[in-house]
Amino acid sequence: MTDAELARAERLARAERMIRSIPDYPEPGVLFRDITPLLADAAALRTVVEAMIAPFEGRFDVVAGVEARGFLLAGAAAIAAGVGLVPIRKQGKLPRPAAAVSYDLEYGSATIEAHDDMPVGCRVLLLDDVLATGGTLRAAHELVDRLGARVVGTAVLMELEALGGRALVGDVHAVFRVS
Ligand code: PRP
Repeated sequence: MTDAELARAERLARAERMIRSIPDYPEPGVLFRDITPLLADAAALRTVVEAMIAPFEGRFDVVAGVEARGFLLAGAAAIAAGVGLVPIRKQGKLPRPAAAVSYDLEYGSATIEAHDDMPVGCRVLLLDDVLATGGTLRAAHELVDRLGARVVGTAVLMELEALGGRALVGDVHAVFRVS
């Protein structure tokens, strides 16, 4: 490992230690991964955002972030990469949605929507904070497809491996993986 790679690995390890685990939130038995301490630290935020986009450098025209926590990383990623941002929102939040996709949750279902602000064939890097069951990112991918754009990569800050979302979403770049 070069000195630069070692320093980067140390910065990433420091950022990962800032993720706070909160038992029994939002309901008993769930271990919630709270990324807000990491977001509040300038060096950690920069480190993880750069790590999310690095494998896709120069290969995307826009980032698409999933409401709500995905927005926190997607905005920073867009600035870091020098591209624009398309928000993928929960149903009813956008004034003129051009496409909508529904997906199953553990209990019930949800719908996400987006505006048609990307040219046909636009190369999209899809971003979210967490990959859990994969339902959200799979639906987001389908939404981008329906808008005529093209997902060239998917990246998350954290993958919860035990929930098996990768099987649903396919190739995902995860900066951190927890079992
Ligand atoms: C969380 C998280 C991801 C999604 C991952 O969002 O931010 O978007 O769940 O779960 P999945 O892989 O099982 O689909 P949530 O729907 O809780 O919304 P929020 O960001 O507004 O809190």
